Amino acid sequence: TNRTFTMIKPDAVADGNSGAIIKMIEEAGFRIVALKKIQLTKERAGQFYAVHSERPFYDGLTTYMSSGPIIPMILEKENAVADFRKLIGATNPAQAEDGTIRKLYAKSIEANAIHGSDSDENSKIEGDFFFAGIEQY
Ligand code: GTP
Ligand code: MG
Repeated sequence: TNRTFTMIKPDAVADGNSGAIIKMIEEAGFRIVALKKIQLTKERAGQFYAVHSERPFYDGLTTYMSSGPIIPMILEKENAVADFRKLIGATNPAQAEDGTIRKLYAKSIEANAIHGSDSDENSKIEGDFFFAGIEQY
């Protein structure tokens, strides 16, 4: 068993899709370890996505990610990182497979409904960005 980190992004929260998305996550066998609703400042969104700071979409991405509340979560399942990336689908919803969360709920390559960590190492860093140790049980 291991863990991954996810956030339901502002577009999906604003559209009222967070309940349906959480239901898909639980039905796929993930246990919710930690969950909250929070709005990032643009600066804090910039820290989260610092790895993309040289990319042309960085300013738009951090504006979007701070535009409304998000729902960060830590999730637990065997093979969590890879299985979760499969459940959410490709970054660009136009390329996402049928039945994936992004195919169902993403609006664009930027407003793409949900995040999923890309490695075990990053899932730990990202979970710790939002949750104190005593919240991660
Ligand atoms: P995350 O799970 O959110 O990390 O998505 P990802 O791993 O599928 O994509 P990546 O880490 O490469 O990019 C992070 C986020 O930046 C994406 O989820 C999008 O919201 C946004 N993004 C990525 N590529 C583009 C792009 O070409 N244009 C725009 N406008 N946004 C992008
Ligand atoms: Mg990524």
